[in-house]
Amino acid sequence: MRIAAAFTGMQTYPFVRLADAKRRLLAAGVDLIDFGIGEPREQTPAFIREALVAALDPLSTYPQSEGLPELRSAIADWARRRFGAALDPETQVLPTMGSKEAIFHLAQVLGGERVAIPAPAYPVYERGARFAGKRVLELPLREATGFLPDLDAVPGASWRDVAVLWLNYPNNPTAAVAPRSLYERAAELAREHGFVVASDEAYSEIYFGDEPPVSALELADLSGVAVFNTLSKRSSMPGYRSGFVAGDPALIGLLKRYRPNVGVAPQEFIQRAAVAAWSDEAHVEQVRASYCAKRDVLLGVLESHGLRSAGGDATFFLWLDAGPGAEALADRLLADGIVLAPGSFFGPAGAGYLRLALVPPLAECERAAVRLGTLL
Ligand SMILES: Cc1ncc(COP(=O)(O)O)c(C=O)c1O
Repeated sequence: MRIAAAFTGMQTYPFVRLADAKRRLLAAGVDLIDFGIGEPREQTPAFIREALVAALDPLSTYPQSEGLPELRSAIADWARRRFGAALDPETQVLPTMGSKEAIFHLAQVLGGERVAIPAPAYPVYERGARFAGKRVLELPLREATGFLPDLDAVPGASWRDVAVLWLNYPNNPTAAVAPRSLYERAAELAREHGFVVASDEAYSEIYFGDEPPVSALELADLSGVAVFNTLSKRSSMPGYRSGFVAGDPALIGLLKRYRPNVGVAPQEFIQRAAVAAWSDEAHVEQVRASYCAKRDVLLGVLESHGLRSAGGDATFFLWLDAGPGAEALADRLLADGIVLAPGSFFGPAGAGYLRLALVPPLAECERAAVRLGTLL
């Protein structure tokens, strides 16, 4: 068998290795509190579950890949209320099966040799690039520059063969937020050099400051711009697999031609539940309040023991500065049942940090805070 070149040199997903370690500890009877993987464990609100059940039809037909008009309109309405964006639901909005598959597939529809990705980053930008036969151009995110990429440090010639530039704010793993000027500069460069700015905004609704994070959808000119968002975090629906891509009609048009080949049309009952979710903000306020309470419980104890939160005040992650001993500390805490992700899981640029996902229930966070107080 000849296997795809993209597999060459591909590491096992680091979280798979962590899962093995967790299994061993559980078998040994260790009480694990898992802040490792960023999977929301809040309950999906009842009105969303009810919308799904009400949408189950005795006749099951294939869903259309462009998505239900009702969902496209609900997403466009949400983007107008939240960001003041004027999206045409016909040509500028496409429902997806969660955002991961859409992020992975983007590089398939674009020409160009390379994909520009932040480092450290959510790994799917790179995986999508490699399976599309493209190389990556890493843009380092450093604490000194607020974990924002320095786009003007990239020589003009390097942009020439770029297919897509990935931005992700609020950021996983660093929790940083972006100013509008980052999107403006990225979109300017995209138009100048003919690439697409892809803004992954999965955490746009999880924030703790007074001002909600800005979106690339706020740009006056969306040509060359694609925004990805999801209900997984905002509405605690990771299992539903429901997201969207919105922006430049030319790019949405390409995706509409591409996606029927793949089999990623979201199920209609999921789409009807998604209409309910995008149309309500009250539950999102509760989601934010829940993460905020967990953050308050843990941040104090971590910082008082020298683990400073180095990133921003958004997402459900804490990006903790643990210095050169970060990996050893993660191992030590793991042995005592506190699971954190070493920053190096997100590439060498994450070394020296630990990522803590505020996903266990509040009571577990409180238990962990007590345990951390003695362990650290
Ligand atoms: C930065 C980022 N983008 C996208 C996703 C994908 O989320 P989903 O596929 O559930 O929409 C995740 C999930 O962890 C993420 O952390």
